[in-house]
Amino acid sequence: MDTKKIAIVTGASSGIGKEFVALMLKEEIDELWAIGLNEDRLKEVKETDKDRVRVFAMDLTQRKNLDILEALIISESVDIKWLINCAGYAKFCDYGGIDRYTSINMIDLNVSALVAMGLICLPYMQKGGHIVNMASQASFQPLPYQNIYSSTKAFVRNYTRALNVELKSKGVVATAVCPGWMQTRLIERAIVKGEKGTRVFPHIVYPDVVAKKAIKDAKKSKDISIYGLYAKLSHIVAKILPQKCMMGIWLRQQRLKSVSNDKN
Ligand SMILES: NC(=O)c1ccc[n+]([C@@H]2O[C@H](COP(=O)([O-])OP(=O)(O)OC[C@H]3O[C@@H](n4cnc5c(N)ncnc54)[C@H](OP(=O)(O)O)[C@@H]3O)[C@@H](O)[C@H]2O)c1
Repeated sequence: MDTKKIAIVTGASSGIGKEFVALMLKEEIDELWAIGLNEDRLKEVKETDKDRVRVFAMDLTQRKNLDILEALIISESVDIKWLINCAGYAKFCDYGGIDRYTSINMIDLNVSALVAMGLICLPYMQKGGHIVNMASQASFQPLPYQNIYSSTKAFVRNYTRALNVELKSKGVVATAVCPGWMQTRLIERAIVKGEKGTRVFPHIVYPDVVAKKAIKDAKKSKDISIYGLYAKLSHIVAKILPQKCMMGIWLRQQRLKSVSNDKN
């Protein structure tokens, strides 16, 4: 059996994942495995290149689905050129605004599934391979009223950069993508009714430009990719100011300062 060069994109049915699919189809790959939840949206993705795109509707927070994917990778002769981990979601509210199941499920997807996908794919990746993990500008500092989401992204950023060092001898590059707000479904899915939560989305950008820069940076072997002046400035400022100060700026920007003070 000939070895197939493949790219795997999670979160491929929407937002930046869909943009990565379009970019990957321009690369020298024999197949693209697109993973998402919504079957209709995945059908649209399949239409972009019926011959090369294979779609998998599966919930990556279910460990049995990760086992299914692993078994499929083992059973086919594949050289994974790109693994792009985009599946993720946020909830914008205080710690009590969502139930315990949703809180933990966010970690299961944003962190555990992302790590698992890398561990599943790495044995089938060779020199020149790439892992691209979606972190966020939210990884630069703790963010009250989206405390779990921002913490999952801090994990992804640190994990990816450390993994990249470990992968040097193998010749695989891992890149953490840290954009600011992007115009995708994530925001509408994240808003939870209630008094407190993220409601201001400054300097929002479209996901296509973020994806393009991410691929360019990955090819330059960068371990972090930050699109746009606003996100870049936030990155620098977060390195200089104490985290307490950064949280204060965030609360003011989101007009949550008075809410926070009332409680303390
Ligand atoms: N939008 C932003 O402002 C922003 C900023 C920084 C970083 N990010 C990160 O970018 C990544 C992509 O988000 P996006 O903005 O493109 O949002 P999006 O349009 O909502 O896309 C999220 C993707 O994740 C998939 N997904 C959700 N739950 C899943 C599950 N349990 N199992 C498998 N797939 C699942 C969705 O599938 P279905 O559509 O089929 O449900 C969708 O394809 C996320 O990791 C997010 O944290 C987003």
